[in-house]
Amino acid sequence: MSEILVHTEAGVATISFNRLERKNSITSAMYATLADAVTQAATDAAVRVLVFQGHETVFSAGNDIGDFLNTPPTGDDAPVWRFMRALAAFPKPAIAAVCGPAVGIGTTLLFHCDLVYAGDNAAFSMPFVNLGLCPEFASSLTVTQMFGYHRAAEALLMGEPFMAEAALETGLVNRVLPPTEANGYAQAQARKLAAKPLSSLVETKRLMKKGQAAQIMAQMGEEGASFGRMLREPAAREAFGAFMEKRKPDFSKV
Ligand code: COA
Repeated sequence: MSEILVHTEAGVATISFNRLERKNSITSAMYATLADAVTQAATDAAVRVLVFQGHETVFSAGNDIGDFLNTPPTGDDAPVWRFMRALAAFPKPAIAAVCGPAVGIGTTLLFHCDLVYAGDNAAFSMPFVNLGLCPEFASSLTVTQMFGYHRAAEALLMGEPFMAEAALETGLVNRVLPPTEANGYAQAQARKLAAKPLSSLVETKRLMKKGQAAQIMAQMGEEGASFGRMLREPAAREAFGAFMEKRKPDFSKV
């Protein structure tokens, strides 16, 4: 079965991560599917709302590290770039239901959604520093604006997981639910939105986001250049090598 499932019903397009045995980590082939799905949903008249969901136990472990090392994203046309650009510019409401770990891009993408519902087992993390990297897809901007500087610094410099209740306090999450209810609640909210006038939803979102749109694209570009360079440097090589070898990284020499 496909590792990304896309299903449209009653005006709601649902994108499900479906790679449980690898904790829903995302390969570049999966990013290509995500990019196509989001791009198509933007113009498909049958889609009024987009929903991302994972499994009750895990949303996404972020990039598939082996695949990421073999096919690192190079340039603006890389599937991950096409996906995140399409999501950042997505004109209709986008909702995420998050249970269990949401690592790296699994958390980064939430800042480009409009509503986020979390299971009480959700654990968000942006461990870019711990991987010898820097934030991606405007998270150095979006996290700081949403959390305030000190809480953003804790999330991005320490890179440690924070749970659903903390995410609720920062404004990342709209509501915390039992994990068995999170996907269903997100679907119910999506159906409510899908029954509203689409033109009003789109215009309201555009007006709310327009002040920031150019800044977000610029920050994505600057972060992408740094991220691409840092990926080839010793700290990231040590961090990813350690993950593959199932050991702790040793940054004492980098
Ligand atoms: N890329 C590739 N494989 C991954 C992965 C990833 N991002 N995340 C998990 N996996 C694999 C594990 O290597 C493991 O494989 P194995 O069965 O061959 O040993 C399998 O998925 C199950 O993962 P495991 O770590 O045993 O599950 P867990 O429930 O104990 O922990 C996570 C779940 C998500 C907290 C943990 O897997 C993790 O931290 N993953 C790395 C996340 C990361 O650093 N992502 C950023 C990438 S830029």
